[in-house]
Amino acid sequence: GGKQQGRKAVAHGGSGKGARRGRRKRGANGLGAVGSGDGTGHGCGTASSVQGRQLPGAWRRFRPRTSARDDAIIGGAPIRPNGFVHHGPMDGVSAYHCTMDTLTLRTPDDWHLHLRDGAALHSVVAASARQFGRAIIMPNLRPPITTVAEATAYRDRIRLALDEAVGRGEISQAQAASFRPLMTLYLTEKTSVDEIRQAAAGDVVTAVKLYPAGATTNSDAGVRAIDRVIPVLEAMAEAGMPLLVHGEVTDPDVDIFDREAVFIDRVMIPLRTRLPQLKVVFEHITTRQAAEYIKTDSAEPGMLGATITPQHLLYNRNAIFTGGLRPHWYCLPVLKREIHRTALVEVATSGDPRFFLGTDSAPHARALKEVGNGCAGCYTGPHALELYAWAFEAAGALDKLDAFASLHGARFYGRAPNTGTITLKRQDWAIPESLPFAGTEIVPLAAGETLHWQVVGEGRSA
Ligand code: DOR
Ligand code: ZN
Repeated sequence: GGKQQGRKAVAHGGSGKGARRGRRKRGANGLGAVGSGDGTGHGCGTASSVQGRQLPGAWRRFRPRTSARDDAIIGGAPIRPNGFVHHGPMDGVSAYHCTMDTLTLRTPDDWHLHLRDGAALHSVVAASARQFGRAIIMPNLRPPITTVAEATAYRDRIRLALDEAVGRGEISQAQAASFRPLMTLYLTEKTSVDEIRQAAAGDVVTAVKLYPAGATTNSDAGVRAIDRVIPVLEAMAEAGMPLLVHGEVTDPDVDIFDREAVFIDRVMIPLRTRLPQLKVVFEHITTRQAAEYIKTDSAEPGMLGATITPQHLLYNRNAIFTGGLRPHWYCLPVLKREIHRTALVEVATSGDPRFFLGTDSAPHARALKEVGNGCAGCYTGPHALELYAWAFEAAGALDKLDAFASLHGARFYGRAPNTGTITLKRQDWAIPESLPFAGTEIVPLAAGETLHWQVVGEGRSA
């Protein structure tokens, strides 16, 4: 319809290829339906500009009641830290240092990040470079990044965007030079074993991303039947190349809140049983079942990990509906019940090295979120570390943030921790209501709300 036309027209590099076809066939195995008309919002482009889409003024001015937040965040107000005063480095590796008023961490990494492309990339890249040393860059552009050559060109565009951000004074030269985009390939049923070998032999591609077709934003080129990619997965296992998994079935008969748990039984367990040598990251886990699955796994260290987003640590699904429908809390996998949030907090703060930071910061222009068929994704790039600090402090576990944010992921990926540090200060500040984005604007997660920790000054030391 006209709206989809509009969407396509604004998608970066949108060629109309892979547009919604409304199929509802069941996948040949495991992954489920390939339908794209199931409301999962995957038709969203990597919107780098929004033309001719103005929202009515009343909606633009709408803000949920401020009290709404407290209903949605169980655990209530952040707990004041106690017992963390004047800690020194904890284990000879951690740079953790916390007083009542400052918190210093080793420079963290973001193991799951969407940077988009074009004007959108230019709008968001500095925010991540200010806080993180390295980031796993997701490949779900339109068209997706499927080859080493495309990943290399995309990395170079990211580097260029970093340089231009320096020119605009958004980050320092040293931050731009030391921010390392770790590239990924988007796994399709056409991906060749050869491409994997080439990726493994080079130093651009760090991992390969599995999107079940239809699961999320720009996933229509993803995998419909896992059987069709087994030779490629075998090559990855052989080469030690990690598979990063969006763990949701897309079968429309499966309730959207159950799609991750069902994925574990239908896909994750059979896959890892078949290919125990394959390194797997269960991305953006959202359920107690996923937390348990990881926690109780018996594989040797380095074979299985999981990223956790700030929104899944801070909010349960009430957040999407409190005080009115709130699209900026909508992401995929969708927020779950409170029992799941608490299970995620428990594992994130447990010190278990299999759990690490991945923001899944997923920018979409305001007009593509505040609309009848809104895109999935929370934009957390600019205040990611502050959001995590909020979640860890509320759990009384600020002392565990350094390992989760700065050590575990590096260890999983076989890399040394970063050498720099970043300091947060205890001071109240309001998350901006909106930020400039590719000629329009974007609404960050929890816009307008007050955070109690703030990254100091220019951000991380390079
Ligand atoms: O909410 C999401 N947004 N989940 C995803 O898996 C993709 C992401 C995006 O690219 O917008
Ligand atoms: Zn993602």
